[in-house]
Amino acid sequence: MKILITGGAGFLGSHLGDTFLARGDQVICMDLGSIAKVQHNFNNPNFVYVRDSVLNDAMVDSLVSQADVVYHMAAVVGVEFYVDDPYNVLNININGTQTVLRAAYKYGKRVVFTSTSEVYGRNPKVPWAEDDDRVLGSTRIDRWCYSTSKAAGEHFCFGYHKMGLPVTVVRYFNVYGPRLDALDRGRVITIFLGQALRDDPITVVGDGMQTRCFTYVTDAIKATVEAGLRDEAIGEICNIGNDLEIPIKDIAEAVVRLSGSKSEIHYVPQEQIYGNSYEDVPRRVPDVTKMHRLLGVSADVTLEEGLKATIDYFKPAKSSAGE
Ligand SMILES: NC(=O)c1ccc[n+]([C@@H]2O[C@H](COP(=O)([O-])OP(=O)(O)OC[C@H]3O[C@@H](n4cnc5c(N)ncnc54)[C@H](O)[C@@H]3O)[C@@H](O)[C@H]2O)c1
Repeated sequence: MKILITGGAGFLGSHLGDTFLARGDQVICMDLGSIAKVQHNFNNPNFVYVRDSVLNDAMVDSLVSQADVVYHMAAVVGVEFYVDDPYNVLNININGTQTVLRAAYKYGKRVVFTSTSEVYGRNPKVPWAEDDDRVLGSTRIDRWCYSTSKAAGEHFCFGYHKMGLPVTVVRYFNVYGPRLDALDRGRVITIFLGQALRDDPITVVGDGMQTRCFTYVTDAIKATVEAGLRDEAIGEICNIGNDLEIPIKDIAEAVVRLSGSKSEIHYVPQEQIYGNSYEDVPRRVPDVTKMHRLLGVSADVTLEEGLKATIDYFKPAKSSAGE
């Protein structure tokens, strides 16, 4: 099969590409960003890298026409972008998704749209099943722009599905592992890890009692592959996650312990980090019943195993952290 992965040079896209290549499939990776996470595939005849934007209609049209399955992963991801550049988040995430869906509809190609647990907002009733409500704050709070951009993408998916497009939506819950961002950037694990590997104080936003469910990348990728291959997943939304709920302060402590760091943990008011454009989500837990039933996957990698593998990957980068 020929698999097109938009955002294929990112964290999840690069792992997904490796997995399809290992199965003997062909992979077209379209991305605008750094090639560091896919460079190891450049000599593989089954791998094609296209440096372009999902906003380029003509290029997306041409690549989609060649693919059997399209994984649309290209997006602007990371809390710093939601609060610093909401225009770009909305533009790339909504308009890029339209571009991909339009081409997939034209050629009748199967699509997996990668959405997010952020779609549920701060719905207080956890765990969140796929049809549960979205509970969001004001549009003046920039952090909700990412959730809204992905929800708009999901609506487009189901709009096209009504017209016959074979599409599946997956919603990830805090996936982590090797190649996740760069140290000190992006998501909570890489931010804590950058600080821990330098023995700097770990800055926990708020009181650290907010919870997340962390999903190791290999588990997330197994489910993602199935989402694009199983007929019964067409027209469905599926959470992809581990349902073990962990307070952020416990993650900070685990990162310190497993990396052998001397860091202390400091609690910082969220306004100090993100200004007034941010609202935290107190609890975020997936209902994973559908992932087990529909995709036949369970998240088996423990936090300890996953964090150790992630720390091993990032340790050599320690000397350049913070540059
Ligand atoms: N990792 C997670 O925990 C998580 C959680 C929820 C949702 N997701 C979703 O999964 C997908 C992949 O996420 P990730 O964690 O790999 O993030 P990532 O930032 O590593 O990957 C996204 C990729 O998209 C690329 N990109 C951005 N704008 C582009 C454009 N205009 N044209 C082409 N490429 C562009 C980036 O260069 C990057 O390589 C995203 O859609 C994200 O919203 C991820």
